[in-house]
Parts: sequence; structure tokens; C-alpha cells
Amino acid sequence: MAEATIISGKDLARKIKEDIAARVPALVEKYGRAPHLAVILVGEDPASQSYVKSKGKDAEQVGFKSTTIRLPEETSEEKLLDIIAGLNADDDVDGILVQLPVPAHIDEDRVIEAISHEKDVDGFHPANVAALWQKRPCAYPCTPKGVIRMLDEAGVDIQGKRAVVIGRSNIVGLPMAKMLLDRNATVTVAHSRTKNLPEVTREADILVAAVGKLRMVTADMVAPGAVVIDVGVNRDPETGKLAGDVDYEPVSRIASVITPVPGGVGPMTRACLMENTLECYLKAMEKHS
Ligand code: GUN
Repeated sequence: MAEATIISGKDLARKIKEDIAARVPALVEKYGRAPHLAVILVGEDPASQSYVKSKGKDAEQVGFKSTTIRLPEETSEEKLLDIIAGLNADDDVDGILVQLPVPAHIDEDRVIEAISHEKDVDGFHPANVAALWQKRPCAYPCTPKGVIRMLDEAGVDIQGKRAVVIGRSNIVGLPMAKMLLDRNATVTVAHSRTKNLPEVTREADILVAAVGKLRMVTADMVAPGAVVIDVGVNRDPETGKLAGDVDYEPVSRIASVITPVPGGVGPMTRACLMENTLECYLKAMEKHS
């Protein structure tokens, strides 16, 4: 079998961001200000710090206003909710994102619910989750949205395919499964306790790995010609480098299409975050004009 086609999330994300950037000057002209994304980080987790930095950089790159609020680890839930309430009430802010996970003493569900669903660029608010599962207009969670865009870009026909998603998180696994289902794939959601996982994954035409376990998808788990999407971002303890959930080299010799880590799904998540921010801005501006 020939080597898999590699979908560069980096290149596609660049195109998406260029398209957004090209629209911003006319929007500033029309509405008097640029879209504004506010990102909150509580604590000093190095991975979260790096994600938040990239999100701010991307926002600035497309011409948005970007505010990053860094709070110490010991910040109280009350204080965080106060800050969110302030951003909710601020007509100058279009999108609010609290980087997850939050420290253990803060109730994550309460934080997610506190963000106005109209500014919920992550698509995590219960109102957005309900809308997604009821097929109503919603903010699509950025990572699954980015994956669907990559599949479309690669010319993968999702309709009628068997998709297996490994992982059932609210951030990726569950919305990913729903979005594949809505594109008429037949979807299995597997997870770390799935019995005979390789037997399940070998049935997949489209395999999405979102578990956060270094190289857990080995070549024996992949059907020849499968499309393999790697959502995992792990630090390889041996090399210190980032690597995905997929054992890339051997799997890329079996798969027809594969996404790399880094440079795959990650940049697409952020490009879709910019799109979601733009959508929140446009809705707010149209409401007020
Ligand atoms: N932590 C890991 N992924 C995400 C994400 O997409 N959004 C937020 N807010 N936190 C995350």
C-alpha cells in the first residue's frame, strides 16, 4: 500500500485565517470595531499556557482584538465567575473562552454555564450542546468542527462510512460523534474500557483518536485504506517532542489519509475558534444595528 496522504491542518488553517483576515477591514469600517476574543487562563499548566498564547496570536493575526486574562492558580471560583460576568456584560467583547481544565477547586460546569451562550466560542455551554444534539443552529465545538473541515478538504466522503471515535469527552469525542452522525456516517464511540478495541477500530473507514495516550493506536488497529485523524497531543518522554495518539510511521503506511501531530488538528481547532468568534461578533453586530 502507498503512503497515506497527509492532511496538513497547518496549511488549511492558514487559508481559513487568511479568508477571515481579508474580511475584517470591511467589518471594522461597517461596525466601528474589530471582533474581540477574551481568553482566560487560571493557573500555570505549561500546555494550557502554550494553547492560550497560540489562541491570542491567531486572533491578532486575523485582525481581531485579543485579551488574555491570566489568573493565579489559587483564584477563587467566585472571582472567576465575577470576571466572566464582567465580560458577558461588556458589549466590546464577542467571544469568551476559559481554557480547560480549570484547577480542581473550581467547578468546571459552573464556569461553562456562566459564560453567556451568545459568547460561547467553544460551543461548550449547555444551550449550545443541546442545540447541537437537537440539530438546531449552534456554535460547533472547535476541534470536531476542524476535523470535519479537514475531511472535506481531503475529499473524504463521510456519508455512509463507518466511523469510530475513540474518546467520549465533552470537548471532542461526543460532539465529534454527533457531527459525523449528522454527515450520515454510522458512528461507534469507543473508549479506554472498550473490550477488544482493535477489533472495533479495524471496522472503521474513518478512525478518530481522541484519548490523550501516546501512540495508543497501533498499526494492527487500523484497516488498510482507513482515514486516520489524530486529535491527541502528548509529550513523548523519550524525545521531549509532541506526538499524537497514533503510532504515526507504521500507521501512515496502512492508512489512505492521516493527520500529523503537530501540524494537524491543533491549528484547525484555533482556525475554527476564529470562525466562531467572527460568527458571535456578526450576530451581536446585526442585533445592535
Ligand atoms: N482544553 C483543551 N481543549 C480545549 C478547548 O478547545 N477549549 C477550551 N476552553 N479548553 C480546552
